[in-house]
Amino acid sequence: MEEKSLREVDPEVFEAISKEIKREKENLLMIASENYASRAVIEAHANVMTNKYAEGYPGERYYGGCEYVDIVENLAIERAKKLFNAEHVNVQPHSGSQANMAVYFSVLKPGNLIMGMDLAHGGHLSHGSKVSFSGSIFNAIFYGVSPDTERIDFDQVRSLAKEYKPKMIVAGASAYPRVIDFSKFKEIAEEVNAFFMADIAHIAGLIVADLHPSPVGIAEFVTSTTHKTLRGPRGGFIITKKEYAKKVDKAIFPGIQGGPLMHIIAAKAVAFKEAMSPEFKEYQKQVVLNAKVLAEELMRYGFRLVSGGTDNHLMLVDLTNKGITGKQAEEALSNAGIIVNKNSIPFDKRGPKITSGIRIGTPALTTRGLKEDEMRLIARFIKDVLENIDSDKVIEKVRSEVRELCKNFPIYTFLEKEE
Ligand SMILES: Cc1ncc(COP(=O)(O)O)c(C=O)c1O
Repeated sequence: MEEKSLREVDPEVFEAISKEIKREKENLLMIASENYASRAVIEAHANVMTNKYAEGYPGERYYGGCEYVDIVENLAIERAKKLFNAEHVNVQPHSGSQANMAVYFSVLKPGNLIMGMDLAHGGHLSHGSKVSFSGSIFNAIFYGVSPDTERIDFDQVRSLAKEYKPKMIVAGASAYPRVIDFSKFKEIAEEVNAFFMADIAHIAGLIVADLHPSPVGIAEFVTSTTHKTLRGPRGGFIITKKEYAKKVDKAIFPGIQGGPLMHIIAAKAVAFKEAMSPEFKEYQKQVVLNAKVLAEELMRYGFRLVSGGTDNHLMLVDLTNKGITGKQAEEALSNAGIIVNKNSIPFDKRGPKITSGIRIGTPALTTRGLKEDEMRLIARFIKDVLENIDSDKVIEKVRSEVRELCKNFPIYTFLEKEE
């Protein structure tokens, strides 16, 4: 076999990847669900285990030659169990959505009712939205936040649960800046005899560092992604009590997936190892502190934050009083090198393609080493851009300040030779 490099075989893909490396280095990545995976994680998932079929589970595969992939899958499982104090872990879900799908299929039947958080209030598509499998295969109802506090309205959760008797209650969010009280959800689930699933995709890293209460031991099912605050490769996993282990494993394979992505599972094992270190806990503390400082600073500049601030790694900025939409803000900030996403705010009068808000997160910048002083600076950048979205001059000035800041916090230097 000829062993040509990627650059030789496919210069177009090589160039796109090189440009992506440059983009990640030269911009402030503030999308709350993104992070920079470590060098070890990046190296671990570019490996020959992508070649291996390993349907089944360690020790019980449907293919020969699985002795080494078994090692990495067992490492990933054991590390995740230790990290989350879990009885059983499945590390094969290709993504967070697949993890959620497998849990639903493990104990529900098509047409059963699930109750999740309203997408427009911060929930995720896979929690029952009509446009996702979760809302087309299952029926769904939604709870949200209260208009006064913009925090989860547990009176509504309870009254909807009692009225509609869902088979499963889902907690967890993609755009909720406050602590989620998993015990309260469990209490309500028990009152109506529903299963309780907690989706910790966004906050898994915070949970590892004891900065957010853990639902493990409370919920029958806990699902997560590995690539957000957890800083691993793109993927998912499921934590469950022993009594549901077989059902969940079967729902993943052969239920909804074929061969596991063993190269990704190798990288998940590495990420779980990294997450056990004291440095990882310090990192998570800084993520939360950075979010707090950024939120305070933005509020000082007159921005309204949904729920008045943040307890975690993200915040939602309501731009209504600034007279601009989320879409306009996303574009202007992007032109200045600050990458965020437009996001609906609770009770948004605008549709999801325009929105009245933006979501901002600190996990990726904290990985780069940015701290409180830089957060204050970035709040000023954001204010300058959003108060002058029609001024190319202001945006260009902020763009050059962003470039300078990025230069002072280098990332992925090991990839420099490749560019
Ligand atoms: C709470 C939550 N659950 C699940 C997912 C889905 O993860 P994936 O994009 O890997 O399918 C996300 C993604 O943003 C999420 O925020």
